[in-house]
Amino acid sequence: MATHAMRTAPVADAAQEFLGDVMAGLALRPRRIPSKYFYDALGSALFEQICATPEYYLTRCELELMQIHRSDIAARLGAHVQLVEFGSGAGIKTRLLLDALDHPVCYTPVEISESALASSCAALTRDFPDLEIHPCSADFTRLHRLPAASLRSPRRVVYFAGSTLGNFEDREAITLLANMREIAGPKGAVLVGVDLKKDPAIIEAAYNDAEGVTAAFTLNLLTRINRELGSDFDVSSFAHRARYNRILGRIETQIVSLRPQRVHLDRRSFDFCRDEAIEVEISCKYDHADVQRMAQSAALSVQAIWTDHNQWFALVLLTA
Ligand code: AVJ
Repeated sequence: MATHAMRTAPVADAAQEFLGDVMAGLALRPRRIPSKYFYDALGSALFEQICATPEYYLTRCELELMQIHRSDIAARLGAHVQLVEFGSGAGIKTRLLLDALDHPVCYTPVEISESALASSCAALTRDFPDLEIHPCSADFTRLHRLPAASLRSPRRVVYFAGSTLGNFEDREAITLLANMREIAGPKGAVLVGVDLKKDPAIIEAAYNDAEGVTAAFTLNLLTRINRELGSDFDVSSFAHRARYNRILGRIETQIVSLRPQRVHLDRRSFDFCRDEAIEVEISCKYDHADVQRMAQSAALSVQAIWTDHNQWFALVLLTA
């Protein structure tokens, strides 16, 4: 079994890039920091806690639909596939899918965090001793093809769960889908989880849980920037704000300054007015027409759509 990971960017570059992205983003109007930086160790743990809040329905719906439809999904995918997962969840959903698949050839999680990759691979190896695992340590937004050594089957299925596609603007999401199509190859398929449009009150509650876990998750970004980049954000004078934009069909999450204040970062200073926002995340919601349009733009066609009983979440099967 291969357990070595293919690296794309050295760690020093990652720190440089983080600094560059934050500096550039704070200089923009409106200010903006990419949501991928939420996921340090604490951020990843807080995200797991979000999934357990009563308001965050996404995880439960996706799990339900996987439980209900996995044998149908597996039958559609066929035998001897290589399952390539973007953002190695290796959580319950992946296990359910792997368990249902007919003789999967190999599992290839693509994950930027080497520690997350290592621990998920170790756990999977215990539970699926016969499954070959080929981890790929890479930023999936920059991956256009798998390294030749990682190609194990012409029938590759790229699995992108959790509605993480929704964290990208349409144009970026379409590029990502097209990259997934390339990685899957002409005989492969793309399997994407998307959160569906529904009563905005339900959506808004999911990103504003009563316990404040999501607020802690959002504000941890400032704590991380302070620690890793040496800035001096006074985290307690910023607040989490998540609102549903009905026109664009998406949650927009911001970090809002509660008072006028100055923040220092890398010999520069940034002045915030009271109520000034940093945009930190979008979570797009889709309907069937949105799914069709995005697929078509990425030269993919929709083969099947499975949903939970509420039709709040969908898993979409796409082929070239
Ligand atoms: C699972 C990464 C897609 O946007 O719903 C959860 C992240 N942000 N609560 C989402 C998230 C705030 C989540 N993703």
